[in-house]
Amino acid sequence: MNTENKQEIEEDHEASLLNLRMGKIKHKIAIISGKGGVGKTLVTVNLAISLAMKGRNGKVGLLDADLHGPCVPKMLGMKGERLEAGPPGIFPAFGPLNIRVVSMDFLLPNDDEPVIWRGPLKMGAIKQFLSEIVWGDLDYLLIDLPPGTGDESLSVLQLIPDINGVIIVTIPSEVSKGVVKKAITFARKMEVPIIGIIENMSGLVCPHCGGKIEVFGKGGGEKMAAETGVPLLGSIPLDPRISLDSDSGIPFISEYRNSEAFKIFDSIVQKIEKFVEGV
Ligand SMILES: Nc1ncnc2c1ncn2[C@@H]1O[C@H](COP(=O)(O)OP(=O)(O)OP(=O)(O)O)[C@@H](O)[C@H]1O
Ligand SMILES: [Mg+2]
Repeated sequence: MNTENKQEIEEDHEASLLNLRMGKIKHKIAIISGKGGVGKTLVTVNLAISLAMKGRNGKVGLLDADLHGPCVPKMLGMKGERLEAGPPGIFPAFGPLNIRVVSMDFLLPNDDEPVIWRGPLKMGAIKQFLSEIVWGDLDYLLIDLPPGTGDESLSVLQLIPDINGVIIVTIPSEVSKGVVKKAITFARKMEVPIIGIIENMSGLVCPHCGGKIEVFGKGGGEKMAAETGVPLLGSIPLDPRISLDSDSGIPFISEYRNSEAFKIFDSIVQKIEKFVEGV
């Protein structure tokens, strides 16, 4: 067999494996933003918990597609987990509420080890995460992307042609708005539906006086929604408990069921459910 034929057969095999794995997942959603540090990972982790809490124990998957700065395991209290391989492929690790999680972090020898890869290698890794992981039958797969519209985002959107859509995370500042708009244009150019915008770090309620401090300004998410025509799914406040919890690997949403943030996540999830069901 010549090299060209061999390559063709390998590509066919990879494509059919990808179709097989992705075909078992009802809804696939990527979480993006042009800007770094706006809370994409925090939002993704808490959305996964929120979705799983609604009768989907074991039916939610989370792919940490941030190859250079994977944070999902830390936020889910899964540091030190490893992926196990069996005859059908590589199995995801199981997190709280049996969320199936895959992250580069599970493959690195230690915390200080960086991933120093160029585009094609990154595309290859994402492809393997999607096709060689035995995700199984899932209701939702959430994909946490690194900031920007680079290789990882491009690969995910290209490799999952039937992706339900993307969720854009922003913070209220003008600086964030400017960059995040690029993510909206990116999704539109890729012809991927935009489910909506989540505004994070939207004001801080003072624990002493109860007054609201608009740390990054006010109404940025609403303005962006009006300017771009993309719906605002919800605004999540800045809360020191959210940050402390994510540092200790406890998804906020599972701890504070009476908090404002819990209710906001719940209403965002309802909007996502309606979107994917076409209601
Ligand atoms: N609403 C919030 N209240 C308090 N802390 C928050 C909130 N949202 C996010 N954080 C904290 O801010 C930091 C950055 O959040 P996160 O890592 O989710 O951002 P990101 O957009 O995923 O970053 P990156 O671009 O590097 O992937 C984390 O320490 C997180 O716990
Ligand atoms: Mg992140």
